[in-house]
Amino acid sequence: MCELSILQNGALLIEAGRITCVGSRAEVDPLIGPDCEVFDAGGRVVMPGFVDAHTHPVFAGTRAGEFEERASGSTYQEIAGRGGGIQSTVRATREATPDDLVASGKRYADWFLRTGTTTVEAKSGYGLTLQDELKILRAIKTLNSESPLTYVPTFLGAHDVPPEYKSRRESYVSLLIDEILPRVTSEKLAEFCDVFCEEKVFTVDDSREILSAARDQGLGLRLHADQLSLSGGAKLAAELRTATADHLEHTDAEGINALRSGGVQPVLLPGSVYALGSSRYPAAREMIEAGLAVVLASDFNPGSSPTPAMTMILSLASTHMKMMPAESITACTINAAYSLNRGSQIGSLEPGKLADFVIHDCADYRELAYFFGIEHPWQVFAAGKQYQRI
Ligand code: NIG
Ligand code: FE
Repeated sequence: MCELSILQNGALLIEAGRITCVGSRAEVDPLIGPDCEVFDAGGRVVMPGFVDAHTHPVFAGTRAGEFEERASGSTYQEIAGRGGGIQSTVRATREATPDDLVASGKRYADWFLRTGTTTVEAKSGYGLTLQDELKILRAIKTLNSESPLTYVPTFLGAHDVPPEYKSRRESYVSLLIDEILPRVTSEKLAEFCDVFCEEKVFTVDDSREILSAARDQGLGLRLHADQLSLSGGAKLAAELRTATADHLEHTDAEGINALRSGGVQPVLLPGSVYALGSSRYPAAREMIEAGLAVVLASDFNPGSSPTPAMTMILSLASTHMKMMPAESITACTINAAYSLNRGSQIGSLEPGKLADFVIHDCADYRELAYFFGIEHPWQVFAAGKQYQRI
């Protein structure tokens, strides 16, 4: 993960949105034809666009009020326990029209792009009814076609038990499996299915049932695991050989071994640890030493991680998880791309891949993790097209 294959004085040739040649200036210069447009990066760092493999980018409203309550001492779980948290975003999102969701989604798409992200995995999960989950997934589809940002959609109907099912969770699990999942897959609205496996949300048995049904219907699998407690999520991910297990703040050595034997990629989300005011970061070093292809992502959402900025995540990874800046960059580019089944298309600058790249306003990539709280990108290109900020 430390080997970035940096080319000094490098150049890229791009045709029809794809990279056709990568090499030194001397190698690429002779290929510049009369119809080529030359873009001089001025000695700056040119990198693949960030691939953010865990986000919740379609929701209505914000939770700035709860943020203030947490500042005055309430905890995330206390707020959730009194009907706030995910449930307050569910209430707002159920009331929103599809146009509302696309409009706010475009605002966040701009934030992702201007901070250097060109692909996001995008979860539903703030609807929790058939119609509202479809509304969110269709909004993701619209955003994917109307924005230069690429969205990889994930069905997260099992994000929380909706209030109308609080005393009969099993009926909600059946609704998910028998009615919502089949509609999501028949309309081809998702590539992955995810579950929030946590005490008081979905148990290990519920999660197994939902994910097995999703696999039978052709979806890839991801899992919110061991975020707030050691709930057995990492072990379940290993048993089901999911693509990823995400969060892992409470995962122990046994869980790490299980991930390794199950071939599961850990997705670490330090933004949510930071924003919840916790100091319990996941054991990134142990996971890297175990040979796991660690992924870093923003977890962008209105509650636990209100940031889309991957460079903030790079800062947190070095400061609190002792990841080398180079390891962090691997984690949110090529490793993230593989976790989304897009390893041959994005995540590195190689011939044949999409020309999703960022010119950062620095000459040393380590500055991306070192200077924090600023926007590093100077120019962002998605599929070869220069992104103009809105
Ligand atoms: O990944 N853990 C569950 N879901 C989100 C939080 C969503 C919210 O607070 O709205 C997460 O942290
Ligand atoms: Fe999440």
